[in-house]
Amino acid sequence: MNRIKELFGIKYPIIQGGMIWCSGWELASAVSNAGGLGLIGSGSMYPEVLREHIQKCKKATDKPFGVNIPLIYPNIDEHIQIIIDEGVKIVFSSAGNPKKYTSYLQEKGIIVVHVIANTKFALKSVEAGVDAIVAEGFEAGGHNGKDEITTMCLIPKIADEVNIPVIAAGGIADGRAMLAAMCLVKKVLLMKTLKIMFLMQRMAQQI
Ligand SMILES: Cc1cc2nc3c(=O)[nH]c(=O)nc-3n(C[C@H](O)[C@H](O)[C@H](O)COP(=O)(O)O)c2cc1C
Repeated sequence: MNRIKELFGIKYPIIQGGMIWCSGWELASAVSNAGGLGLIGSGSMYPEVLREHIQKCKKATDKPFGVNIPLIYPNIDEHIQIIIDEGVKIVFSSAGNPKKYTSYLQEKGIIVVHVIANTKFALKSVEAGVDAIVAEGFEAGGHNGKDEITTMCLIPKIADEVNIPVIAAGGIADGRAMLAAMCLVKKVLLMKTLKIMFLMQRMAQQI
């Protein structure tokens, strides 16, 4: 878990999943301010909308935050240029081939994480040189893959097969599930569920 905390410069190994229509600058900055890693979900955004969210997020937090880019959407090149121009340092790519943009982003000093749902894409991500992967079980809302491999089966398998950090996701909604996922991956957890969103928002309000 320390590897992930160090990689992103965050206090807790909890990452808020990028969510089309749901995770804008408000949620991302609240999670980052509370010590996790907030992600702006760019999937639904026109390029200028993404720029606005990034600029607002930078004003709302001085902590690290990132942008999720589902690679199946149009305007990816424009999104990437905006991310670079605005100085975003973390990108979570998903729903596409990690080979296309990973090294380009890394050359610009950006940490790249790719979301996968099976071994084939985990290995492709390693080959593409990503800094970490999110292994997302079939339980995950907005599931990215076609495979129906559950979190309990997917996470330990991927953790055994790659030697880069693995972030667990899919149905991790409370402390018991966090503990279980820690045993499976021994690294870090990605939790999107509403529960964690509200928890992090409450934490942010209390700080
Ligand atoms: C409403 C919704 C929208 C989502 N949109 C995206 C998205 O745009 N890009 C992406 O990579 N993952 C997306 N996801 C997946 C999340 O980032 C995350 O991996 C997943 O929700 C974790 O599993 P959980 O929902 O069981 O906590 C979405 C999930 C939900 C529930």
